[in-house]
Amino acid sequence: MYSIHASFSTTKLTHNLNAMNFKKSIRKIFSFQFFLFILVFSVGLNVAGQEINGFSIDKGKNKSDFQAENNKEKNQSKNELLLSSFRPGEIWKDNNGVHINAHGGGILFHKGTYYWFGEHKIEGSLGNTAQVGVHVYSSKDLYIWKDEGIALKVSDDPTSDIARGCILERPKVIFNKKTGKFVMWFHLELLGQGYDAARSGVAVSDSPTGPFTFLRSFRPNAGYWPVNVQEIHKRPVSDNIKSKYCGGKGCLPSHPDTLNILGRDFKGGQMARDMNLFVDDDGKAYHIYSSEENSTLHISQLSDDYISYSGRYGRFFSNRYMEGAAMFKAKGKYYLIASDCTGWAPNAARSAVSESVLGIWRELGNPAVGADSETTFHSQSTYILPVKEKRNQFIFMGDRWRPENAIDGRYIWLPIEFEGDRPVIRWKQEWSLNFFK
Ligand code: DGJ
Repeated sequence: MYSIHASFSTTKLTHNLNAMNFKKSIRKIFSFQFFLFILVFSVGLNVAGQEINGFSIDKGKNKSDFQAENNKEKNQSKNELLLSSFRPGEIWKDNNGVHINAHGGGILFHKGTYYWFGEHKIEGSLGNTAQVGVHVYSSKDLYIWKDEGIALKVSDDPTSDIARGCILERPKVIFNKKTGKFVMWFHLELLGQGYDAARSGVAVSDSPTGPFTFLRSFRPNAGYWPVNVQEIHKRPVSDNIKSKYCGGKGCLPSHPDTLNILGRDFKGGQMARDMNLFVDDDGKAYHIYSSEENSTLHISQLSDDYISYSGRYGRFFSNRYMEGAAMFKAKGKYYLIASDCTGWAPNAARSAVSESVLGIWRELGNPAVGADSETTFHSQSTYILPVKEKRNQFIFMGDRWRPENAIDGRYIWLPIEFEGDRPVIRWKQEWSLNFFK
């Protein structure tokens, strides 16, 4: 019995000793694992701090801030809540983790929310034709964008002006206080006609996110002369200027004024391709577009309801082939930033200033400075965004086109600085709204 007991006790002792060692070892293992976990977690956070979704984490936030935010926004992924900087040219994911698809876009600010409208592109060779429509996203902070879907759908009716497969570019939306309608304008090329139609399309909606109803497409200002018309334009138009031009720089046989393209298009309406909208402080809205075979920029005042023209317009920068023109107002002056006309290939931007919208515009040169300024940092202007809370603070928005796979086009957002009266854009790998002090 003793021996049994002793043996039992010895076994128990051995067992107890083994158990103690085992517990110690477990403790050691667990503390080592815990240490490893902390290490991996911190490294993970740090790596995430370098880049998540093309943005970086706000390093000023501590872990409990992040946890609190995550609990609040259960339906949103952790990464989205951490975005707090712009990284021009990187993939920019929306709230679903999908690269934002709003090219040639513009922004509407309405009741505390930003709405980003742009061309929805698809993969492959059809990517630059309108197979889907105009995409809209919303944001409160300009970093995190919620996919709000397709604001304007192309039509399945092949006889529609906006039939699937047409070219629908550079959509912009403004809000009309008198009618309470959101009004969208875009550059439209009819199905199967290449870039010959050079029309403007108009659509309206009761909601910023749509659905927008297509109203019509047309060429601007049929039967109206611009405020700065020249005598040559009113002379009879000779037959030899009616031949088809290619619409690009160097295609016209001579200066557009000599050719009198304005006079040629007087009855049917002026050509309108790359376009933008601008609403002045007095509520008057303007349509800015490349006209006269892209050689000359027109600026047309819209009607009070914003869905047609007032008949008042001007032509500017004749023979300068401005595309991607975007207007903004700073310190009481009007500014334009535009590109040259070189297809999808980037070129050096231009800037100009005027005391009035239809006034005398004076060119100020390339606003981009530093390395890659000759290609506007491999981009083309699409919109100048006033940052609402910060007066006289603006963001240059450009497109880095990828014509071979249009859906992969990137967005170049950079702050605009002023050197005297001159807007200046400098490259930044990463920046935030804190730049605007
Ligand atoms: C340049 C324009 O800015 C774009 O919107 C588009 O029309 C391309 N040309 C087509 O080549």
